[in-house]
Amino acid sequence: MHHFLYRNGTLHAEDVPVSRIIEAVGTPCYIYATETLVRHYRIFAEAFRGLDARIHFAVKANASLAVLRTLAQQGCGADVVSGGELQLSLQAGIPAERIVFSGVGKTEEELELALKAGVYQINVESLPELGALDTVARHLGVRAPVAVRVNPDIGAGGHEKITTGNRENKFGIEWNMATQVCHHAASLPGIDFKGLAVHIGSQITDLAPFRAAFSRIVALTRILRAEGLDISRLDLGGGLGIPYKDADTAPPLPADYASMVRDTVSGTGCTLLLEPGRLIAGNAGILVSRVVYVKDSQTRTFIILDAGMNDLIRPAMYDARHAIIPLAEPEAGSAGQTCDVVGPVCESSDIFARDVMLPPLQTGDRIAFLSAGAYGAVMASQYNTRPLVPEVLVKGDRFAITRRRPSFQDMTALESIPDWLSS
Ligand code: LLP
Repeated sequence: MHHFLYRNGTLHAEDVPVSRIIEAVGTPCYIYATETLVRHYRIFAEAFRGLDARIHFAVKANASLAVLRTLAQQGCGADVVSGGELQLSLQAGIPAERIVFSGVGKTEEELELALKAGVYQINVESLPELGALDTVARHLGVRAPVAVRVNPDIGAGGHEKITTGNRENKFGIEWNMATQVCHHAASLPGIDFKGLAVHIGSQITDLAPFRAAFSRIVALTRILRAEGLDISRLDLGGGLGIPYKDADTAPPLPADYASMVRDTVSGTGCTLLLEPGRLIAGNAGILVSRVVYVKDSQTRTFIILDAGMNDLIRPAMYDARHAIIPLAEPEAGSAGQTCDVVGPVCESSDIFARDVMLPPLQTGDRIAFLSAGAYGAVMASQYNTRPLVPEVLVKGDRFAITRRRPSFQDMTALESIPDWLSS
């Protein structure tokens, strides 16, 4: 469910015609709907009512300050994976005690930043990281609240590049070493060992792998408790998938996911941490783009857009398919055309869709990519020296440009010419 719908024949974001936003900001641009963000957060939170569960939005999915502030106002916490995301979350108004710091390669500087801020939990992924955190914490005279992220050797996810829970992946402590590492963590003076963390992948559309992974974590919790360790927290990660196209099989509802969590994990009595990203932001955003040219060849029709793989990399990187709709609602029963939708970037992989049926489009027409609110703007780059795509937040009948399009000067502001080249 989202709030990008046709009204009077034209696409709206909540109550605002998208064409009005485009007049103000141009294309390409990302547009987020407050109502969808809030709705998704609330539905997810509601599903866990009655459980001691904390929701930490995975900031990597959407790092817009305005989006984070919107979620902060709902009481949502943050799951961060860098010092930058940590500072951003604090700036957005998410208190440190609602922040979890995940990630496989946190530097000592980042660990120090997190401890000084007083984050709720740091998820540790290796023995060397545990050692570094212990040293930093002792140096600061504090004890770091830690969950050990284990790799349950159960991989899942919409694409091999977003599977994290396999033994072959770089994430988490190898299953066979998990007990040993937890005991080691509990023995270190700078570490306050709280429990376990797991995250098996992203865009998972089936509950079975979650159930298997969580069951393994519960079994490990029992073993560790029997061995005398105190386990009070379980971080279950993110990963629940969303529908990208109407034809997709519907992924499990948050309520189904929550009841599976109840079945598997709630008996432990642990505080549960959940880290949804895509589920909250994915369908709360669109990317709007303009048709630059329509190029007909003997065999294909290419719709060439002003948005490229640098603005939305998911199709090129994960073979993702985002629904594409025109801003002007096609008349019922109107003829379509089979075409390839491509960007302007000089790469053959700059293709958004192949052989899709779209209404006839011409230069100047606008289209929207749906489900672009997660892993869209955050993964954008300046490749081909193209400016980072601006972002807009809509609330009811209002909208605001929350990140402007950089000027050429902005884009080169950090560069300098060495003096041996300057004359
Ligand atoms: N927690 C951890 C430890 C994670 O690594 C991730 C995502 C999440 C939570 C949030 O997962 P979500 O609920 O959003 O599935 N760029 C890829 C997705 C990469 C996900 C990485 N980790 C894409 O566009 O599909």
